[in-house]
Parts: sequence; structure tokens; C-alpha cells
Amino acid sequence: MPIYQQRGRLPRKRHVAFRREDGGLYPEELVGNKGFAGASSLLYHLRLPTAVKSVRPFRELAWEAEERGPLRHRHLRSGRLETGPSPVLDRVPLLWNDDVALSLVRPSTREDVLYRNAQADELVYVTEGEGDLESAFGNLAFRDGDYLVVPRGIVHRYRLSPRPARLLVIESAGEVRLPKRYRNEHGQLLEGAPFSERDIRTPGAPSTVDETGEFPILVKAGNRLTEVVLAHHPFDVVGWDGYYYPWAFNIHDFEPKVARIHLPPPVHQTFEGDGWVVCSFCPRPYDFDKEAVPAPYNHQNVMSDEVLYYASARFMSRKGIEVGSITLHPDGLPHGPQPGKAEESIGKTWTDELAVMLDTFRPLRVGRAALAVEDTAYTTSWLEGPSA
Ligand SMILES: [Fe+2]
Repeated sequence: MPIYQQRGRLPRKRHVAFRREDGGLYPEELVGNKGFAGASSLLYHLRLPTAVKSVRPFRELAWEAEERGPLRHRHLRSGRLETGPSPVLDRVPLLWNDDVALSLVRPSTREDVLYRNAQADELVYVTEGEGDLESAFGNLAFRDGDYLVVPRGIVHRYRLSPRPARLLVIESAGEVRLPKRYRNEHGQLLEGAPFSERDIRTPGAPSTVDETGEFPILVKAGNRLTEVVLAHHPFDVVGWDGYYYPWAFNIHDFEPKVARIHLPPPVHQTFEGDGWVVCSFCPRPYDFDKEAVPAPYNHQNVMSDEVLYYASARFMSRKGIEVGSITLHPDGLPHGPQPGKAEESIGKTWTDELAVMLDTFRPLRVGRAALAVEDTAYTTSWLEGPSA
């Protein structure tokens, strides 16, 4: 999506005969969104991408939300969740609305299923773990701190190293985009944007797997998985070009902005979609006026639910959190630093915080699975004095 790319072998023009050595055509496939008007890529396959042998229902994905209780601040210790081994099939849904969903998985399998999400773009934050994201576009190596962007419709597979892994998965009904205000009229990232095209990693050469047989692909559409068995390996591409492919950006390549006094969260914005934004809070020097209060001021996030995912246990305004903690500050209640945290931040010169913030413009539901790891004392954790 961010930059035009081309890999492998391509014909001189689009939509002209491109022949194999045996004289047959390489089947051409356009993968793109918004009815031929959005970002797209053209792929050249060894075999027809339409060669389906069979289909069958695989699994319904009925996500269960908690019964609604009173409006309150929440703290979910997602680091304590145990999940199944698959990076795709064992995701635990924690928070969602109609625009965006946040789930978590701690995968352990080395090689996962072939998977296509046909109902959402995926933005996967790799809290820890490393491996390859395989697709017909080529392999994309990933590591701790990476955001992986997988546009919908792309068949892919996770191949993990034996190290422990923890993935935060954000599914978006709308396209995952870089903020428009960071780009010029050509789409190029501006001088002054907190990252540049050089920070964006794209797939290597296509692997062009030439195998026939039975290749099941799990397709997510309409909140259920369908198994589609293809008559050949889906990673049979000899070349592709375009703007539509999986890509990666590491949170440590985000260049944080710092000022003499406090800057608001939008300076940390990294991604946006329809109905949400994602910000990255990275290690950085603190505000440098000697009277500056580096901790944020209390605020009401009117028309927004604020979710913070803590990839480090250190966060300037928060106590009692751990790696994997998720706080939800819903619209309708002010929030801010906990008692003592504003005072404590004055005079500090550096923060090691590392956190991913998801702000949604419509209220979020909380999944039942999250309740087992909820810290219910969080709601009243701003009380001061002997009653606290
Ligand atoms: Fe906030």
C-alpha cells in the first residue's frame, strides 16, 4: 500500500499475453480493493488462482461479549491469558465494535495454516516473537516490535521461530492506512513525518511454489471460517507489481516528537482506519522545561474509547500495570495519571515506555474471555488517602 513495488518476472504491459516456456499463459490476477479504484497489485501465477477442488464450513466465530455493566475504567491483564498454539485460529477476542476488533494470541506452533481474511485488514503488533510471514508476494521476516500490515484478501501463513511469541491483532473493517497528514499529494511521506519509506519493509522475492495436490485455505468472511481446498499451492506467483501487499514497520523506527512542554497523543499517531487510530508511545526524552509536567493531564476523551496496550511495564502515568496490560478508558469518564504520578514525573529526563494505543470513535464491547484476567480494582485506583 505505501509504495509501488515490483518483484519477479512481469510482462512489458498489463493484460497482455505472458507465456511460460511450454507456451501456456501465466494466469494474471488483480488483487485490489474499492472496486478497481483502490490500491491493487497484479500477480502472475503458474496455475489458475480459481482452481477450487472443494469447500466446506470450518468454524463459526461467534464472539461473546460480556453482559453490560456500569460504565467504568477497565484493566485487562492480557499477559496472563493462555491461548492455543495457532497464530490465526487461537486468537482470543478482547475488545471490539463494528469498525475494529482487538484480540491476542500467544502462538507456539512453528508453521500455521494458510489463511485469508476476507472481511478485515489486519494490523498485527508483534510484542515478542520472530519468524516469516509467508505469502504469494514473498516472505516478510518479522521480529519483536514489528507492526505487520496484512491487507484483506491476501493468503498468508505464519512461520514462527521456537522463541515465545505474543501477537496483538487489530482487525479493521476499513482499510489500514498511514495518516493522511503525514503524506504529500503524491502519497509520499513528508519531511517531518515520524517515519519514512525507508522504514517500511516489504516482501522478498516470490518463492514460486510449483506443487499440485490439495491445499486447504481458511477464509474468514461473514464472521466464519470456510475451508477452500485449492488444487495447487497458492504461493505459485512468478512476479507481481503494485501497491497491495503485506508490509512491516517496527515501532522502534518511529521517531518520537518531544517538546519543551507536553505534546498530546496525536504526535504519536502511526496508523488510521475508518473509526480508529493507532499511536505508538516509544522510549524518548521527556519534556525539557524545568517546570514541565511530563505526565499527561487529566482528560475526557469525548467521542472516543481509549485503549492502551503496554508492551513494557513502565508507563509514565500508570502504576500497577504489567507487560500485556490493556487499559480501556471509555467515553463518558475522565482519566489521567494515578495519584503521585504527575508529581513524580517532574524533573525526569527520559521514559522507557513502550505502548500501543488504539482509540476508537465508537464504544467497544468487552469479550467474556477478558474477564478472567481483569483487575477489577482499577476502577477506583485514582483514590487518594487512607481509603485508597
Ligand atoms: Fe488518554
